[in-house]
Amino acid sequence: TDVLRVALAGLGTVGAGVIKLLDANRELIERRAGRPIEVVAVSARDRSRDRGVDLSRFAWEDDPADLAAREDVDCVAELIGGADGSALALARDTLAAGKSFVTANKAMIAHHGLELAEAAEKAKVALKYEAAVAGGIPVIKGLREGAAANEITSVYGILNGTCNYILTEMEAKGSDFADVLAEAQRLGYAEADPTFDIDGIDAAHKLAILASLSFGTALDFDTVATSGIRRVIAEDILEARALGFKVRLVGTAEAAGGKLFQRVHACLVPRDHPLAHVAGSLNAIVAQGNFVGRLFFEGAGAGEGPTASAVVADLIDIARGEYGPAFAMPHARLTQAEAIEAGDR
Ligand code: NDP
Ligand code: HSE
Repeated sequence: TDVLRVALAGLGTVGAGVIKLLDANRELIERRAGRPIEVVAVSARDRSRDRGVDLSRFAWEDDPADLAAREDVDCVAELIGGADGSALALARDTLAAGKSFVTANKAMIAHHGLELAEAAEKAKVALKYEAAVAGGIPVIKGLREGAAANEITSVYGILNGTCNYILTEMEAKGSDFADVLAEAQRLGYAEADPTFDIDGIDAAHKLAILASLSFGTALDFDTVATSGIRRVIAEDILEARALGFKVRLVGTAEAAGGKLFQRVHACLVPRDHPLAHVAGSLNAIVAQGNFVGRLFFEGAGAGEGPTASAVVADLIDIARGEYGPAFAMPHARLTQAEAIEAGDR
């Protein structure tokens, strides 16, 4: 059989989750992918750490950069994190070696997505990042392919599981911000540096990706007006509730007058709005299309199982040879004004 041989860089929450999912659903995945998908090599910092999975069957590389060149590897899944550093070097090396690349790394895609998409296009291989936005929710595929026939006029949603978990726990239990953050970290929702979550930066990475897909504009993380939930206290949440609102961290992107407006901030959401019911580590995205109408995507936005689900879906696409475009190519190369003027938004 023609096995898809995968290298995994990073064996934390998501990396270990991918191994568990591939083990648990092996036969089903082989049937759907049309061939087996097997991890052959892995890399992380600490070889001796117990990750709840048997690693003895895989080759080990101390340096993740060495995964790209291995002859027994067909594609690489990067689950390390960080916009630059080892993750970016591995992405560049993998695509330059003519191998497909899967990542859950929204920071890297938000900053370097276009460069990597062009490298993938040139090498005629896949760049896939379904897990990078909203964990297990297939929103990249949903917007880029499912809603491809539409002009999208706005896209907004709850894009950070850690913040949503903190806000809903503070409301339900009156718990302290710091205690709930520690719990979100324990559950594997938070970024390695949780200031990315609580200051809205992680949601801004995801919003920039969604905006580029929705409006066909070049990725533009730097213009996302970003604030987080650091200063929200339990009293704010209780007062909002008394007035009929929930506090949610919401990212919004709209195209108007030839400009793209992107912002992430804590919002008062009316309690009868669908986003008010999105609780715990769930995420939700609302997109308005001119023919499909309002789309609402909801599901687990963080955590081992849901994120692994999105990573393995990308691997299945690669095993099937369904590479697809990384963004709304070629329009993702247009500036905002050009894309919006061209009506492709
Ligand atoms: P973790 O911190 O749990 O895991 C990171 C892994 O990368 C660890 O195994 C670590 O090794 C390894 N690592 C770090 N630096 C290096 C390096 N220089 N060389 C080799 N390995 C390295 O992170 P997550 O699994 O939570 O996240 C991984 C990626 O997935 C990130 O991009 C994150 O943003 C993204 N993501 C995470 C989600 C989640 O819910 N957790 C959801 C969606 C996306 P060691 O274990 O030895 O320390
Ligand atoms: N730290 C991120 C979150 C992980 O809490 O949403 C999922 O991208």
